[in-house]
Amino acid sequence: MAGDEKVERVRELSDLTEIVSDYVTLKRQGSNLVGLCPFHDEKTPSFSVSPERQLFYCFGCQAGGDVFTFVMMIEGMRFPEALRFLADRAGVVIPAHPEDAEEISRDQKRRDYLYRLAEFATGRFAENLAGNTGETAREYLASRGVGTELVKAYRLGYAEPGWSNLVDSLKRGGWSLRAAEYLGLVRKADAGHHYDWLRDRLIFPIADVRGRVVAFAGRALGDENPKYLNSPENPIFTKGRTWYGLDIAREAIRRRDRGIIVEGYTDVLACAREGWPEVVACMGTAVTPDQARMLARYTRNAFAAFDADDAGARAALRSFRSFAASGIDLKVMRFGSGDPADVLAGEDGKQQFEEVLRDAAGYFAFAWDQVLGTYDIGSARGKARAVASMAPVLAAEDDPVVRSDYIRRMAEELRLPEEAVRTGLRRA
Ligand code: UTP
Ligand code: MN
Repeated sequence: MAGDEKVERVRELSDLTEIVSDYVTLKRQGSNLVGLCPFHDEKTPSFSVSPERQLFYCFGCQAGGDVFTFVMMIEGMRFPEALRFLADRAGVVIPAHPEDAEEISRDQKRRDYLYRLAEFATGRFAENLAGNTGETAREYLASRGVGTELVKAYRLGYAEPGWSNLVDSLKRGGWSLRAAEYLGLVRKADAGHHYDWLRDRLIFPIADVRGRVVAFAGRALGDENPKYLNSPENPIFTKGRTWYGLDIAREAIRRRDRGIIVEGYTDVLACAREGWPEVVACMGTAVTPDQARMLARYTRNAFAAFDADDAGARAALRSFRSFAASGIDLKVMRFGSGDPADVLAGEDGKQQFEEVLRDAAGYFAFAWDQVLGTYDIGSARGKARAVASMAPVLAAEDDPVVRSDYIRRMAEELRLPEEAVRTGLRRA
């Protein structure tokens, strides 16, 4: 394809409203869609997208243009990068041959079906929670301070006990049970029939950045094992590209210019309730580079509020690289014990959280503390290991002045010449 032809092809295949929707929550207003402008700070929406003309314009800051302009502005890209970005996105749908077009449209249909099915199940679970059978689950939520507002915002639900409540209602609705297997809602028994996979569990629907439900997590109401049952990855759900709660948090993240990163679903609910709506959960695993890139669309400041155990510290260490690679400055909140939900449930929890947030240390200080707690720096070998394990942290810092300062601090504490620390870092 010639250059211009490619530009036009990509333009044809890129829907501006769809692209903008990854960054801004849009509402229909007449023939346009409007939302809060991502390019300046505002409380009432003056950002408008015309689906027909495929143009955007902000009455507040006068930013405007087409799909290429939008991507260049929001991702800070130059034209060739924006073109590649959009081509990649459309890549799945740029058919080189007519046969591919058919397959692509089949995939698209399958995905659309899964979205609709997930939506149906979300509605069923929500009805259960509100109905007669949902009483114990409602009591459980109340005992954890989760009120109706949170239930509504996060679309929480309840899967009834019994083996075929959902299966039966899927059958009545004419839904494909095979598709429901993909979403982790039902399983097929060896005997051939399907049964409900989530039983007597509180349901957290997991949505993509646009608020479309793509997976489910079911929490046991007691202390059964496993605590959570999660949907497997499927054509609409990739764990490493999903943040729990981002669809709800993203505007607050942009407005407050920071994201609070927690590990668990319940931490999200607790933070949102206590006045930190800029919260998302990485769902118990280290933050991936893809997740960090998604967050970087809204802010360059992240505060990790991980559990106060070794696993939490390890998750912070592993997540750090992903954040650094996306240019996000990571600070680490350190709780004496428990997770953010526990802290916030305690007496003075809110105040304590606020203090920990205010005192959140830069990533270097956190990592250095961890390292000092891990290696015996009284021994020469211990010093060598301590230096080596700080290498990724130092490598991620591009400011030479800041880096020098870190090295000086390490050298002092290890009682080594700075040159030795530098050499140790270089080798690692
Ligand atoms: P936690 O065990 O801390 O759960 O795991 P939680 O969400 O904070 O729940 P509460 O407060 O004890 O009720 C943190 C996250 O790890 C993932 C989930 O995403 C969970 O929110 N996880 C944990 C699982 O996927 N499966 C599990 O069995 C446990
Ligand atoms: Mn937890």
